[in-house]
Amino acid sequence: MHDMADTVLSIRSLEVAYGEIPALHGVDLEVARGEIVTLIGANGAGKTTTLRAISGLLEPRKGDILYRGETIRGMKTHLITKMGISHVPEGRGIFSNLTVHDNLELGAYLRKGKIAASELEYIFSLFPVLEDRQKQNAGTLSGGEQQMLAISRALMAKPDVLLLDEPSLGLAPQMVQTIFRVIREINQTGTTILLVEQNAHMALTTAHRGYVMETGRIAFADTSVNLLASERVKKAYLGG
Ligand SMILES: Nc1ncnc2c1ncn2[C@@H]1O[C@H](COP(=O)(O)OP(=O)(O)OP(=O)(O)O)[C@@H](O)[C@H]1O
Ligand SMILES: [Mg+2]
Repeated sequence: MHDMADTVLSIRSLEVAYGEIPALHGVDLEVARGEIVTLIGANGAGKTTTLRAISGLLEPRKGDILYRGETIRGMKTHLITKMGISHVPEGRGIFSNLTVHDNLELGAYLRKGKIAASELEYIFSLFPVLEDRQKQNAGTLSGGEQQMLAISRALMAKPDVLLLDEPSLGLAPQMVQTIFRVIREINQTGTTILLVEQNAHMALTTAHRGYVMETGRIAFADTSVNLLASERVKKAYLGG
């Protein structure tokens, strides 16, 4: 499918448990440089757990996570971010009591502490509405604007790989379109994207390839085109 040299993220036989209760039972997943890969699946399948393990928020019980061929398993989250993997968590994780600008500043903090004008320009080209709202508290933004801010904050760390957890959750259809359009734009600037979604149709329309997760395992994987056409996917995830 793709050359190993192009593999930026490689998850091998990953097992994660919450206490004694296993959540991932040996997940294998690969993301090549420049791809948008989506991970879809029902509630509780283990999608968020997978992303949290990649970004060091959960300690795997078994298996490995390789970033550019080197293990990052067991590393602290801030170091993983510094190496180039940024995570936009489920529920967005922005600071409601801070302004839009200060949330962006926090995103840049790990790297060098200050935002360059060119970076703000890039963010505002992706999400023009944020420019007018720089001094507004993040908690007073609409749900869609909060998602824009969460993505923008992650971009301030200049990631090679962006992990997105349910960016379309709770948003109106028009806003969902906007978010996915920007995801494609970010990808076109060279950022690799691993996208977790319950909106399987939008995710597969946007991504190059997809993995379907069922109860802590990868049930199957294919190109988005093939998954969109698959009877199994249509029946279980596309409401057809
Ligand atoms: N903090 C936790 N403590 C105990 N069990 C957890 C915890 N977080 C998740 N789980 C369990 O792990 C399993 C996988 O959860 P996870 O959040 O990864 O699923 P998901 O695919 O992201 O689901 P959703 O689509 O609802 O976000 C579920 O059975 C869930 O109940
Ligand atoms: Mg989740």
